Amino acid sequence: MCGIVGYVGKQDAWPIIYEGLRRLEYRGYDSAGIAIVNGQGDLQVRKTVGKVHGLDETTIANQLQGSVGLGHTRWATHGRPSHENAHPHIDCQSRIAVVHNGIVENYLELKQQLIDAGHSFYSETDTEVLTHLVEEGMEQGLSFQDAFRRMGNLLKGSQAISAVLQGHDSEICALRLGHAGGIVVAHADGQAIIGSDLPALLPLLKAESNAGQVGFLETGEMVVLTTAGVQYQDLDGNPIEKEPRLVTQEEVLVDKAGYQHFMLKEIMEQPQAVASAMRERVNFETRQVVFPDFPLTSQEIADLERVVLIGCGTSLNAALVGRYLVERYGGLPAEAESASEYRYRDPFIGPNTLVVSIGQSGETADTVAAMQMVKDKGGRLITICNTEGSQASRIADGSLYMRSGIEVGVASTKTFVASLTILNLLAIFLGKSRGTLDISTTQELVDGLTKLPRLMGDLLADIAPYKQVAHEYAKFDKFLFLGRGIIAPIAYEGALKLKEISYIHAEGYPAGEMKHGPIALVDNAIAIVALAPKDSLYDKVANNVKEVKARDGCVLSVLTEGDTQLAVDVDHALYIPDAPEHVLPMLVTVPMQMVAYHIALLRDRDVDQPRNLAKSVTVE
Ligand code: M6R
Repeated sequence: MCGIVGYVGKQDAWPIIYEGLRRLEYRGYDSAGIAIVNGQGDLQVRKTVGKVHGLDETTIANQLQGSVGLGHTRWATHGRPSHENAHPHIDCQSRIAVVHNGIVENYLELKQQLIDAGHSFYSETDTEVLTHLVEEGMEQGLSFQDAFRRMGNLLKGSQAISAVLQGHDSEICALRLGHAGGIVVAHADGQAIIGSDLPALLPLLKAESNAGQVGFLETGEMVVLTTAGVQYQDLDGNPIEKEPRLVTQEEVLVDKAGYQHFMLKEIMEQPQAVASAMRERVNFETRQVVFPDFPLTSQEIADLERVVLIGCGTSLNAALVGRYLVERYGGLPAEAESASEYRYRDPFIGPNTLVVSIGQSGETADTVAAMQMVKDKGGRLITICNTEGSQASRIADGSLYMRSGIEVGVASTKTFVASLTILNLLAIFLGKSRGTLDISTTQELVDGLTKLPRLMGDLLADIAPYKQVAHEYAKFDKFLFLGRGIIAPIAYEGALKLKEISYIHAEGYPAGEMKHGPIALVDNAIAIVALAPKDSLYDKVANNVKEVKARDGCVLSVLTEGDTQLAVDVDHALYIPDAPEHVLPMLVTVPMQMVAYHIALLRDRDVDQPRNLAKSVTVE
């Protein structure tokens, strides 16, 4: 969602905050703004509509000098992207600046009370009430800190908020309510930074020779940053002792490494992401899955009655693949559910239900809320997640980390294949532990997975075929992606990748369902992407392709190398190596990503930051 950065120290705050905002831009890029308290104690604000670099366009004129300030990069919820709605928001007397990530659920009620008390508003945001609430508290004689805390106690909803006061050139307050957004805090050498996420802290970690101690704000906690140090407290003002965590530069470094886009870099990192996901979880000598971090005992695993996999967007598509894997290899009934729907249902969850949440960020509001519901109902809960210390990892009984490194491109790529790798390991582990998979089958499955980094590397070694296909297909304005069985969710993911980065309408459908409606769409203006690797349903998909060709549809297929049967029927084909069924989803994903990427480039799209999106959706 939105990104928050704050700095207090001895250096000029502007470049540090600006750099932090650039690093957090993946969280939202509808508008950006910075407020600095200058040397005279005056509060000065600069804003831009659109991306953070807009703040830099007239750098000399725009840069403000002063060593304390706040910045914000916005993903719009209340109020369209505009200068007025951009943060920081200031109070009536331009003394208090506030930045905010999340939603103030009772803002209309608070706004009316403030208007009745004489406050006037200039924006359409919920955030603006926060500045006026702090102002109101100070008018009542409270200190800045106390007024800030009082404001926190008046709010409903999930959010992270930070504020700075004019004249108070050495203090920043921040607090966190609920699960909508984190606040991380670093302090070193008379300087302190807060951020919505670790990359904002890089300037201090640099100074600390590659590593630094980082505090993570929990819900209901507040922090006050000064040059002298960092004080944590609860919302009653009681001091809190917080154990910081050592964070290294590698955990926060964000770099395109020479690639044109983060998305391409992250696609190229997929062989490594798969290998990292397997590290320490596969015994390569015995060819068995060992899950040292698995949170259930053998007896609890034996007692399991069903598995429910939940996630949103790409992570939901991973859950849908996971459902096949758990049914087939884990020997357990499995369901896959969209977390945004599941959270509002009243599902049966018993003590022997294992719920597996999947999420790159571990902060997606719908996923976190669904997890909380599962916890409240007494289900067992694990998360497959890429972000240590995230909400998901805190709520779950245990976390199976993806270890993919930061994913910056808004389109999920390497974390999708990492999720699929871990879901494979989980299914094999459950099957082996419950006695539904024998040792030799387990070994065969593990062998298939261990070849995956090499096979994916081969697929990525030559990108010319993807570019060529993209040139042929970039002209289409409608796409239908078809797949069956374990490959059906890859059709959904292929459609999601294409639509989110190219803005082309694309739909993913189970190929067997086509004759029940979507076949009516087939004409020469729609591209059909048929995913037909050699698997147990290959013949069925081949029939579906023939049905399309009989109606003059244009078909791009993903086939297994050496396929001579379908290759003659389709208009264009991309090939993946022959591989066992459980690893096919990861292999088929690669051409989907690469074609989507190159079509988006040909359409001149903002690949890493597509319009209207944000990397983690921490509001409902
Ligand atoms: O962080 P999460 O995996 O929970 O995010 C869920 C979705 O917002 C996310 O997967 C989204 O669909 C992708 N970025 C699309 O590529």
